[in-house]
Amino acid sequence: MTDALWYFGRGTGLVSLVLLSIVVALGIGARSGRTAFGLPRFAVSLLHRNAGLLAVVFLLGHVVALYFDPYAQLRAFDLVLPFFAEYRPFWIGLGTVGFDLVLALILTSLLRHRLGARAWRAVHWLAYLCWPVAVLHGLQTGTDGGSWWLRTVTALCAALVLAAVVWRFTPSFPRHPDRVPRRRPRALQEVR
Ligand code: HEM
Repeated sequence: MTDALWYFGRGTGLVSLVLLSIVVALGIGARSGRTAFGLPRFAVSLLHRNAGLLAVVFLLGHVVALYFDPYAQLRAFDLVLPFFAEYRPFWIGLGTVGFDLVLALILTSLLRHRLGARAWRAVHWLAYLCWPVAVLHGLQTGTDGGSWWLRTVTALCAALVLAAVVWRFTPSFPRHPDRVPRRRPRALQEVR
C-alpha cells in the first residue's frame, strides 16, 4: 500500500508538471488574437481552462498521496504553508509555493467576472513564477530527479514553455484585447 502511494505520488507529480507546461503554452496561445496550434481562439481558451482544471485534479492526487506516504513525513499544514517540512524543506516548500499559486490562479479565474479583468490579469502574471518553481521542486525533491526520463520530460516541457514565452514577448505578438470597445449604433453616429 505504501509503495502504491509513493508511485501514485510520483506519477501524479510528473503529470501535473506536464499539464502545467501545456497550460502555460495554451494560455499564451489564447492571449494572441489569432488561431494558435492550428485551432481557433475559442478552442485554445477552452483547452487552456480545462487543462488547468485537470492539472489541479492531478496536483490534489499528488499532495494527498504524498501526505499519506510515511517517507515524505508531511503534515497537513505543509501542503499550504511552505518551507516547514521535515524532509527537504526548501525543495518541498517550492512545491507548496507552486501549489498555492495554482490555487490562486484557478480561484481568481473562476471569480474573474467579479474581480474584473485588471485584478485577474495581475494575479495571472504569477503563472510565469509558478512554472519554474514547480520545475525546480520536481527536479530536486523527487526520487527520480536524477533519472534520464524525468530530465527528458522536464527538458521537453521547458522547450515548450520557453518557445511560447519567447513568442509572447516578441514585439509582433498579436494581443487579443481584454474588451472589444463598444461601437455606437450607426443611427446614433449619424445623428451627431
Ligand atoms: C505545482 C505544484 C507541484 C508540482 C508540479 C509537483 C511536481 C512534482 C514532481 C514532478 C515530482 C517528482 C516525482 C518523481 O521524482 O518521480 C515531485 C515530487 C514530490 N513532491 Fe511535488 N509537485 C507540486 C507540489 C507539491 C506539494 C504542494 C507537495 C507537498 C507539500 C509536494 C510534495 C512532493 C514530494 C514529497 C515529492 C517527492 C516524492 C518522492 O519521490 O518520494 N509537491 N513533485
